[in-house]
Amino acid sequence: MGSLQNKVAIVTGAAQGLGTKIVELFINEGATVVGIDIQEDKIKQAMEQFGDNARGKVLDISNDGAWQELINETVEEFGKLDILVNNASIMSRKGILELSGEEYMNVHSVNSLGTFLGIKYAIPKMQENGSGSIVNISSIGALASGAADGGDAAYGASKGSVTALTRHVAHYFAKDNIRANSVHPGGIQTDMLQEVFDANPELWEKNKENSPLPNHISDAEDIANGVVFLASDKARTITGEQLVIDNGYMTH
Ligand SMILES: NC(=O)c1ccc[n+]([C@@H]2O[C@H](COP(=O)([O-])OP(=O)(O)OC[C@H]3O[C@@H](n4cnc5c(N)ncnc54)[C@H](O)[C@@H]3O)[C@@H](O)[C@H]2O)c1
Repeated sequence: MGSLQNKVAIVTGAAQGLGTKIVELFINEGATVVGIDIQEDKIKQAMEQFGDNARGKVLDISNDGAWQELINETVEEFGKLDILVNNASIMSRKGILELSGEEYMNVHSVNSLGTFLGIKYAIPKMQENGSGSIVNISSIGALASGAADGGDAAYGASKGSVTALTRHVAHYFAKDNIRANSVHPGGIQTDMLQEVFDANPELWEKNKENSPLPNHISDAEDIANGVVFLASDKARTITGEQLVIDNGYMTH
């Protein structure tokens, strides 16, 4: 029996990269998954490969009303909500002196507000259910200045907000048996990051130096394995934790 047998999960940002890999491992572990994304065609396609236990839904996570509707629909269709993975996010690579207030808020409206809204509407359903597990994908950019290569001003700050929110939820909803943990990846081998390395080969060299384990970079599966563990009952006494998966970056 899989570690997520009979669990109902929502995973955001599931159309590509880490989000799709999380859905794949969740399905393999026996969960039913609603994968959501702002990319309409891509989310439907990405979820179709997983058969009847996965649904693709379109949602902009910064939209309050749409989040509420999505959570209500999920519970109507599947009877409950056990797991929420807040994975969707956008990046900004600008430093603090180049960044406008509007761009700063734009990053926060997805990464921070989007995560907050998902949690806000999931918690009452998890309270009804008698338990729940929330996994928020943060970043080492929330923990170390310079880890997001100049994007820390907006991206790192938004991930810092996700991290603090995780601890808040962990503390205040532990009484309801709702757990909340954050996962902090270093570099993940996704198409997006490969493009960055191709355009700036010196960044790959810097990443190698900073991430001393021989792989130097994680596959999406390395991160998704941590998410499965935290989402599952195997982690039933773990809450408010920050799981760093970074090939040793944070050992500096
Ligand atoms: N790639 C890395 O090296 C790295 C490092 C540290 C942390 N992370 C974190 O891991 C997570 C996944 O990263 P990834 O590399 O797979 O990213 P990605 O950009 O490939 O995928 C992000 C997904 O989120 C979706 N999304 C963006 N805005 C949205 C919105 N408003 N509403 C709904 N969906 C939206 C995108 O359409 C996309 O499918 C993110 O939280 C990211 O910050 C990534």
